[in-house]
Amino acid sequence: MDRTPDTVAAVDWEAHCREAVAAYDAATTTAELEEAHVHYLGRKAALPQALRGVRDRETGMTLNAGRRTIEEAEAEARTRLDRGAVAGDYDVTLPGEAPRRGRLHLITQIRREVEDVFLGLGYEVVDGREVETTHYNFDALNFPGWHPARSPGDSFFLDETRVLRTETSPSQIRTMEERGGPPIYMITTGRVYRRENVDATHTQTFHQVEGLAIDEGITLADLKGTLLHFMRAIFGPERRVRFRTHYFPFTEPSIEPDVSCFLCDGAGCSVCKHSGWLEMGGAGMVDPALFEFVDASAYDPEKVSGFAFGLGLERIALLRHGLPDIRLLWANDLRVLGQF
Ligand code: FA5
Repeated sequence: MDRTPDTVAAVDWEAHCREAVAAYDAATTTAELEEAHVHYLGRKAALPQALRGVRDRETGMTLNAGRRTIEEAEAEARTRLDRGAVAGDYDVTLPGEAPRRGRLHLITQIRREVEDVFLGLGYEVVDGREVETTHYNFDALNFPGWHPARSPGDSFFLDETRVLRTETSPSQIRTMEERGGPPIYMITTGRVYRRENVDATHTQTFHQVEGLAIDEGITLADLKGTLLHFMRAIFGPERRVRFRTHYFPFTEPSIEPDVSCFLCDGAGCSVCKHSGWLEMGGAGMVDPALFEFVDASAYDPEKVSGFAFGLGLERIALLRHGLPDIRLLWANDLRVLGQF
């Protein structure tokens, strides 16, 4: 009688499995993979044949374990070849799928440009905080008690003493405190928050750049020269700057700087609303009251003076790139943002 178990015992199944795994590992094309399959797992292959004739449990278990090992080797080889990990198994001349390239948001690009301009003038870039205390946001900046910005109708209060900063100016006070005395040449950029009616030129969250220079002998002429340099770097070398008087609680005198329209150069066009000038933000000489508030001995108002300015980054973006609506900068429409 033909006793299959004897035949089974005659084969060294461990060596057989090792040989099969090596064959799958060595396969570099699907043809070689199929060849290995026919040889080790196909209908007429030794191990499946032997399995069909098995009568005792122990041999069955040995052979089944061997088959699993070979099947795993085959699955691995198939995945490897499917991924095209083997050179020559795919057509390298086919065009690849180019990943879509991201880019920086226009406001980030402008923020970096602004920082570069002032770094070039020897300023340092400092960080501010978006959640401020009413002390830094209002009191230390000399805001009178009646000022509308102190009301919950104008500003986002978190509680009695904490508010989402309404401007970047609180960083003037924090920097003066941290430095402990002049000279200071710093800018800071970041988000600010106001409870505004949203329209084509106003959002409730927007970005400002704040600048502060404190030293001995700083004058309004230094402020004008600095802003002129800045405007020319951002809007072109032919720009002119003019000052209009204004009021801010923390500067005296306070001014609003205008830059000559980069499109019509002052002749009048739709960008500058036919005035020839573009309003850029607020500025002025640091009110000596702030020095006294911070530390009058470190910042002696008799010796020390300074200027400060605050400009809207969205405003720069809208003007320079002819965007009709500030909300386009917040809508995350890649058809718009992808143009810059
Ligand atoms: C200020 O915020 C002062 N802190 C500026 C300043 C700094 C003056 C230092 C003196 C010394 P103002 O509220 O004008 O000023 O805002 C400055 C700029 O922020 C504006 O010119 C405008 O470009 C931008 N801005 C103000 N409100 C909004 C808004 N709702 N949406 C978008 N941009 C705005």
